[in-house]
Amino acid sequence: MGIADIHGHYAFGIDDGAKTIEDTKKLLKYAKENGVSHIAMTPHIKPGKMDDDFMSEYYKAMKETSQIAKDYGIQALVGSELLLNDLTYDYLKNKQFYSLNNTKYLLVECDINKDFEDTKQFYLDLLYEIEISGYTPVIAHVERYFKEIDLEIIKHWIHLGYVIQMNIQSLYDGSASEKKNAITLLKHGYVHILASDSHSVNNFRKPSFNKGIKELSKYCSKEEIKTLLKENPIHILKGEKVKSLVKGGNS
Ligand SMILES: [Fe+2]
Repeated sequence: MGIADIHGHYAFGIDDGAKTIEDTKKLLKYAKENGVSHIAMTPHIKPGKMDDDFMSEYYKAMKETSQIAKDYGIQALVGSELLLNDLTYDYLKNKQFYSLNNTKYLLVECDINKDFEDTKQFYLDLLYEIEISGYTPVIAHVERYFKEIDLEIIKHWIHLGYVIQMNIQSLYDGSASEKKNAITLLKHGYVHILASDSHSVNNFRKPSFNKGIKELSKYCSKEEIKTLLKENPIHILKGEKVKSLVKGGNS
């Protein structure tokens, strides 16, 4: 079994990720060369910015992408990256999203353009709402929300059973704060899953796992790398419990 990349914009023509079928093919080829065997397609869902036909177009793009992925020996599964904003409550009620491979795990993102500390209570309330709707939040690229990572909130989320996802690219090509936060998170073991958040082979967010693993091995053991890139993402896709890597405890 290879790497399972559960956050990526591989499906074409639906968001700011792959634009054309050719873009998708290039991303899949590059992913395969980087040891990927499974992906979850997670196009953005930005509540309030989608029209009525969007969800059917969305599903169609994922269905076509998953057919193409077979040619590259990659199993492509459904998903979404749901933005947390004021209108997310309605989207939850109407189930306008795809959980990861239709499991209880739902990939969500905070708004990187808002100050996290000012919006913290809003996110806590909304994440609770997601929980009582029957889903476990998988919080996307947590290292990107803070100038300096708020370890207390990450610890709290882990305690609540939420899943922490980090972009592997933040380790080698992120901003100074993203890189610093990424390293801090790894040192505490406050990450469950690494993913690419791939958008295009032409920009920095592509599935460069070979490069990422070299950087990762400075902070993690081989066993931990296997958990972050293979075992935990597969647990997510099967709807199973993820393994904690929290140092000195089993939160
Ligand atoms: Fe993303």
